[in-house]
Amino acid sequence: MALPNGEQSTELLHAQAHIWNQIFNFINSMSLKCAIQLGIPDIIHKHGKPMTLPELVDALPIDKAKSQCVSRLMRILTHSGFFIDAKISKNEEYMGYWLTSASRLLLKDEPLSVTPFLLAMLDPILTEPWHHLSEWFESDQNPTPFDTKHGRMFWEYAGREPRLNSFFNEAMASDARLVTSVLIRDCKHVFEGLNSIVDVGGGTGTLSKNIADAFPNLKCTVLDLPHVVAGLEGTKNLSYLGGDMFESIPSADAILLKWILHDWSDEECVKILKTCKEAIQSTDKEGKIIIIDMIIDNQKEDNEAIETQLQFDMLMMAIVTGRERNEKEWATIFYDAGFTRYKIIPTLGLRSVIEVYP
Ligand SMILES: C[S@@+](CC[C@H](N)C(=O)[O-])C[C@H]1O[C@@H](n2cnc3c(N)ncnc32)[C@H](O)[C@@H]1O
Repeated sequence: MALPNGEQSTELLHAQAHIWNQIFNFINSMSLKCAIQLGIPDIIHKHGKPMTLPELVDALPIDKAKSQCVSRLMRILTHSGFFIDAKISKNEEYMGYWLTSASRLLLKDEPLSVTPFLLAMLDPILTEPWHHLSEWFESDQNPTPFDTKHGRMFWEYAGREPRLNSFFNEAMASDARLVTSVLIRDCKHVFEGLNSIVDVGGGTGTLSKNIADAFPNLKCTVLDLPHVVAGLEGTKNLSYLGGDMFESIPSADAILLKWILHDWSDEECVKILKTCKEAIQSTDKEGKIIIIDMIIDNQKEDNEAIETQLQFDMLMMAIVTGRERNEKEWATIFYDAGFTRYKIIPTLGLRSVIEVYP
């Protein structure tokens, strides 16, 4: 077959290579999931110095007939930045696998470990809906591809399926641990002067527990669906409340919404924000809403960051009814809900803190 008119063979082959690269993107995430399930970062960490291939193979809980495949798994993960080839010691010529900052963040005992998030997002319950994306686009029936696959909405499914409820809550808690560590250090001022706060959709309360510890005079309430907060015990200044944020939110000086609004459509966000507004207006202070979410396009110079934000946007489309928003889209829902001004604090990497005022 002849080349299309004017098309250079290099261009054609480059286009084919680009398609292959995009087709096989999932191999990066599945290889990483495999390495985590086999415990590779932990094994290397425990070894305490760069680990040769035979040492790694020996320590791995695998069928030894597959030993030669380990170097191939390690090669792609080294390419994608999870391991490096390092000299075993200064005076030796032998090389071994060593950890990078990304694989350190996947160690089991790392307090800020991202592993629960990785295992949750790559669980078949959450990856299967992707095979139904085009079917969902064509149908006028299902609100989300998740619903197309599983026959019910994500939050309802989480309420019925304890395994999903548990791994999703743990994934959120792991993210909250990381966010809290930055928030309490760099954004203390956001919470100063407040007497009460409600963490709406606060999951199992990781963020609130840390805020309650850092501000002993601040009364914190975690509001989430009954199956999420069932059996959780509060402390002196932290309490749990099972409920529905669309129905009512207890009054407080501030409402915290971490990773909530991106789960919902604009109309649903306006409803939630209006309920939040009522809650902060029943106290004497000029209250505020504290949102932790992404603002798309705020990292223009960083291509990987933009791609990740767009991936999150697609994730919100596949699993729930939400979306990631740019600043203009955020401002629209704030004003539609009756708020008059907002302030962006861009301190959380791909996410920002947004304070919204009545
Ligand atoms: C993406 S998670 C975020 C959890 C937590 N804020 C965090 O970032 O770690 C969304 C949370 O909203 C809760 N949620 C969903 N629908 C809700 C509702 N109608 N009322 C209250 N909480 C709800 C979920 O149970 C879940 O814990």
